[in-house]
Amino acid sequence: MDGEKQVTGYLLFSLATAVIGSLQFGYNTGVINAPEQKLRSFFNDTWMERYGEPISPGMNTIVWSIAVAIFSVGGMVGSFSVGVMANRFGRRRSMFLVNVLAVIGGLLMGFSTICSSYEMVIAGRLVIGLFCGLFTGLTPMYVGEVSPTPLRGAFGTLHQLGVVVGILIAQIFGLEALLGSDKLWPLLLALTVAPAVLQCILLPFCPESPRFLLINLKQEEQARKALVRLRGTEDVSKDLHEMKEESTKMAMEKKVTIAELFRSPSYRQPLLIAVMLQLSQQLSGINAVFYYSTGIFDSAGVRQPIYATIGAGIVNTIFTVVSLFLVEKAGRRTLHLLGLGGMAVSALVMTISLLLQKHINAMSYVAILAVMIFVAMFELGPGPIPWFIVAELFSQGPRPAAMAVAGCCNWTANFLVGISFPKLEELCGPWVFLIFTAFLILFFIFTFIKVPETKGKTFDEIARGFGNASPPASSSVEDPPASASAAATATPLPASP
Ligand code: GLC
Repeated sequence: MDGEKQVTGYLLFSLATAVIGSLQFGYNTGVINAPEQKLRSFFNDTWMERYGEPISPGMNTIVWSIAVAIFSVGGMVGSFSVGVMANRFGRRRSMFLVNVLAVIGGLLMGFSTICSSYEMVIAGRLVIGLFCGLFTGLTPMYVGEVSPTPLRGAFGTLHQLGVVVGILIAQIFGLEALLGSDKLWPLLLALTVAPAVLQCILLPFCPESPRFLLINLKQEEQARKALVRLRGTEDVSKDLHEMKEESTKMAMEKKVTIAELFRSPSYRQPLLIAVMLQLSQQLSGINAVFYYSTGIFDSAGVRQPIYATIGAGIVNTIFTVVSLFLVEKAGRRTLHLLGLGGMAVSALVMTISLLLQKHINAMSYVAILAVMIFVAMFELGPGPIPWFIVAELFSQGPRPAAMAVAGCCNWTANFLVGISFPKLEELCGPWVFLIFTAFLILFFIFTFIKVPETKGKTFDEIARGFGNASPPASSSVEDPPASASAAATATPLPASP
């Protein structure tokens, strides 16, 4: 097992390069928040120029909502296309090509004021959404495929770490004193071009996924070379052997299309789990916080809400790092359960503090604390795990199609929360977070009953667990000695329903 644990500089370099895509997703998720008022007055100016009268407040809100939400629409389409791209061009080339979208989107938004066109902001957000949707599949897939089995979870969490750092950078750059000013906001939106260029420079130095080379292209020698560089040792026979085993098993099914994924009973169980985990991530209400936290803090009576928002971004980052270190010890299932449970409790506390806030001033501190714990619990499990567990639950054949379906569900739920939260808040007032509490409890129960532990298992072992109607007890995790304490928390792969 130790031999497999080798972490080389080259592996870290390749992971870091791939994770630039995650950073982009986070940046573009967080970037639109701060400059809201600047964008609204830009819409107004353009309207004045064209029609000689100010834009109506209703119309302004419509244009604004479209600019925000069209990002997720792009994300849905992009994530859905990931399977086709990843199989056709390979993982690395797909990442390279997809960056064209970031350049186009960034330039559209960056030049929108010069061209007096708010349509360019909307078009740019759509294209950037497409780009981010593709990367929410490509990065976890590449990371999962190049990582050594015992560290797949820890490295899988790097995707989410990229996302949260991206959000934090966007929150900080969005400050009025930095790029969130009247003049500079187009640059704030266009900045996404820079990491895209950087990634294109670095990608040619990264290897193609050895799994893709061996299993999809049958280029064993190329796959071996890539592995030797990634693992820093000539002896990669164990990795190769494991991939070949997977390859033989897959020879019959080859690439799996999305339609086949739904039709085949053997994928039903992992697909249900993948989709439910993605939904648990979004319907936890996390983006109600990340899109609207400033407003939430405001209504909780916080005086400088923007700083509380940045505080949430910092807590978000810290706890993603905590999860990175815990995930190979505690396991995916335990952390996901802990996260969902903790979020449910803090959503409840948040509701109570919002309700009491009118009578007790100090409740605004309780509200801030509850939001911070909500975010921290999210990052322990529900943030990072759904993104990488999909790559774990499926073998090479169905993986791209599964990533596409799961990613698309994630983006759709993201869109629904984003678009409906302001209205829900209007309707439910301080009770609004109870909706998420209810979802969280449901997903907790589902995870408890259905989700297997995947820690330390090879892709093939995981897939086998779903294939067998009732796997023998011995198919549960053989823990490496270092994590023996976690053995108690690891459950065997599920017996079918
Ligand atoms: C996850 C979610 C994303 C959310 C982020 C917050 O990556 O997919 O929608 O904004 O976590 O950290």
